Amino acid sequence: MAGHVLALDQGTTSTRAMVFAADARPVAAAQREFPQHYPRPGWVEHSAEDLWLTTLTTARLALEEAGLEARDIAAIGIANQRETTLLWDRESGHAVHNAIVWQDRRTAAHCAELRADGTEALLTERTGLLADSYFSATKLAWLLDNVPGARAAAQAGRLAFGTVDSFLLSRLTDGALHATDATNASRTMLYDIRRGDWDDDLLRLFRIPRAVLPEVRDSAGPFGVAAARYFGGPVAVCGMAGDQQAALTGQACFQPGMVKSTYGTGCFMLLNTGAQAVASRHRLLTTVACQIGGRRTYALEGAIFVAGAAVQWLRDGLGLVAEAAETGALAAAADPEQPVVLVPAFVGLGAPHWDSEARGALYGLTRGTTRRELARAALESVGYQTRDLLEAMRADAGLAEGTVIRVDGGMTASDWSMQFLADMLGAPVDRPRVAETTALGAAYLAGLEAGVFPEPEAFAALWALDRRFAPAMAEERRAMLYARWQTAVRRTCGR
Ligand code: G3P
Repeated sequence: MAGHVLALDQGTTSTRAMVFAADARPVAAAQREFPQHYPRPGWVEHSAEDLWLTTLTTARLALEEAGLEARDIAAIGIANQRETTLLWDRESGHAVHNAIVWQDRRTAAHCAELRADGTEALLTERTGLLADSYFSATKLAWLLDNVPGARAAAQAGRLAFGTVDSFLLSRLTDGALHATDATNASRTMLYDIRRGDWDDDLLRLFRIPRAVLPEVRDSAGPFGVAAARYFGGPVAVCGMAGDQQAALTGQACFQPGMVKSTYGTGCFMLLNTGAQAVASRHRLLTTVACQIGGRRTYALEGAIFVAGAAVQWLRDGLGLVAEAAETGALAAAADPEQPVVLVPAFVGLGAPHWDSEARGALYGLTRGTTRRELARAALESVGYQTRDLLEAMRADAGLAEGTVIRVDGGMTASDWSMQFLADMLGAPVDRPRVAETTALGAAYLAGLEAGVFPEPEAFAALWALDRRFAPAMAEERRAMLYARWQTAVRRTCGR
């Protein structure tokens, strides 16, 4: 039964493993949440062992559920939360500190210095990114400066740096491989996305010894073999990509001009720009979408930090709902006369505002405000933020009239949210039948290399629509609501 592919999707709040058949049908899935650590306000960490153990556990559970063994799996593909930074001992495989998560703001002051001294232009030119603590470089610099003995050990070649993909690969191969793929490298702020290599000027700037860096490879290719003791037999790792790039692949957005938007903890909208790395004039990111056979394709990306996390806050922070799924019905029952707006800047604001000092704000509360209006404000905030991204993309890349947005991720299960999104974007929103596009994208990369999946065009033909949401809101109302959002953001950012 070889011809199945195992996808490992290591995300911010949970790890998932899925098994796909050769026709791209999901046949088994397992998921495990793991603890988030907040040692100080604005700091977010994960235990490296949690990342590894949830990966191993979910992979084994998925294989068991599928009734498959190692010999039935043609390849493993890895997708991962990006930017999250690990530093580990090459000998023991142990991390020298918790992973510093992409949301962590501890290096915001360092990034402010980079903006103030004019270094940001160089960073953007080389890496396509902005001087923000979101990316790995300042996190790695922090680890080297703050973990006792780390800098000396790094210089002596005893430590390895990696994003989660590299760390998992290293564990799966019992330390034999220290590699990443070009999509993950492009999120470190140390990688020249046009030359396709680590950048010596940036390594000097952040005082990163080259000896800690992983080798950068294609997103689809032979990455090594997972040791037999993990799955009862050896399995080749043949694909790797940052989760948002994997979702772009899983959504079959292979043609320039195609857009996908993924709603997990945050929201990440990527526009395929083909072989051209388009520089943004509206504070979007330029990033590697995929690298196959040494050929890179690029994307423009808008990243917002809080999407599903706003709903989680209603559930876990405020206790307003028991299940996230309740919010759609609440929002639908909200009072249309109450203009409650939530700016969910819980960890600052991402694209296109990039204000790491901003914090969340609620506007328009009255004595009559109930949880219904708060639920609507949380769901609407996701639509408004996505519109901010799409407007920036329209201005940067001149999107074709009628461009469709392919959506995925947990929040897309909410019909109410998807209809509001279509209304606010003024564009059709397509929800595919396979919602797990991140895992599918990782599986595709691995399966392409292993000969299980066909070339992109044939794979794209397997993409199937679940439901299209067409914009239906009157233009006047749409403009009024968006103007209200923009005013709320200006106030929140103190502008
Ligand atoms: O850049 C961060 C992103 O990769 C995280 O994605 O799905 O884990 O929230 P997710």
